[in-house]
Amino acid sequence: MTKVAQIGVGYWGPNLLRNLVNSKECEVKMVADISVERQDYVKSLYPYIDVTSDIRKVMDDSSIDAVIIATPVKTHFDLAMQALDKRKHTLVEKPMATTVAEVNKIADLSKKNKLVAMVGHTFLYNAAVRYLKKLIDSGELGDIRYIYAQRLNLGRIRSDVDALWNLAPHDVSIIQYLLDDPIPISVTRKGMDYVQDGIEDVVFLDITYPNKIIANIHVSWLDPNKVRRMTVVGSNKMVVYDDISENKIAIYDKGIDRMAILGENMDYDHKEFFKYNHRSGDVLLPKIDFKEPLKVEISHFLDCIQNGTKCLTGPEHARNVVEILSV
Ligand SMILES: NC(=O)c1ccc[n+]([C@@H]2O[C@H](COP(=O)([O-])OP(=O)(O)OC[C@H]3O[C@@H](n4cnc5c(N)ncnc54)[C@H](O)[C@@H]3O)[C@@H](O)[C@H]2O)c1
Repeated sequence: MTKVAQIGVGYWGPNLLRNLVNSKECEVKMVADISVERQDYVKSLYPYIDVTSDIRKVMDDSSIDAVIIATPVKTHFDLAMQALDKRKHTLVEKPMATTVAEVNKIADLSKKNKLVAMVGHTFLYNAAVRYLKKLIDSGELGDIRYIYAQRLNLGRIRSDVDALWNLAPHDVSIIQYLLDDPIPISVTRKGMDYVQDGIEDVVFLDITYPNKIIANIHVSWLDPNKVRRMTVVGSNKMVVYDDISENKIAIYDKGIDRMAILGENMDYDHKEFFKYNHRSGDVLLPKIDFKEPLKVEISHFLDCIQNGTKCLTGPEHARNVVEILSV
């Protein structure tokens, strides 16, 4: 039984804590939050957990094997380094840190102390995203041409990070996962601050990958509609992954193929011998067995600790995400 502690129980932290408490593979020993209101919240729900305002109590408790960090982004690096230094496995919310140099330091320390360092890129533990990955890997979509993602809402505005750093870690992480973590050829961003000076509310991120694959990520907390959608266009089929739809994955048998002109030489390389056929076939809505992604994520973290399983969202994956976001 792995003994864990959580630091930070604000907006997102309660979801992690609920899953940790419900897990049979770990025991929640302590929770730390600097807010008295959040401490009272935890005490009211889980009176048997030791609650503190002082993270040193967590760090100095040698019976705690692992720490889960759900504090604001700017604190991630410092808290993760403290936990790893105190020989505790560490799961830190996304993004792992704010610079590549920081992620490298986390990677080095976790390696040196033989500990798991993982980032909570929740969507890689989402059944629909995994289904999409399997589809791509099976070759059913053909060659991936381009991907675009939209994560929009009239949403919760943050002051510590902009919309890109708050929302796009998810989409960058998903796209990197789908494409087997390639190194982009180029990354550019265009955004604007309207609500708070210097903090962009809307950002368009463009990524160019090898093999003519391009991706665009549009994030905004200043939008009339809640949208969580990713479209993957392949040479054979196209897929729309809509995270807020009942049918999360829709596979379109659509594409534009070259068709030989009857009587010609079946020569697809010379324009005069073929024409373009717009293929518009069936739409498949596969049934996907859904499990709460955070439950799967926490179970994976504990599996990595207990059985030495390779971490899906370790520092290597985290580093590429942070590098892309740092453009
Ligand atoms: N995976 C997801 O889908 C998802 C969704 C939302 C947020 N997040 C991530 O979760 C993290 C927290 O986001 P949030 O929206 O819950 O923020 P929040 O501001 O609502 O909560 C942060 C909590 O941390 C506490 N805190 C801050 N500094 C602390 C410190 N040094 N020691 C102890 N407690 C401290 C605060 O008092 C607060 O209760 C962020 O990294 C964010 O990116 C992830």
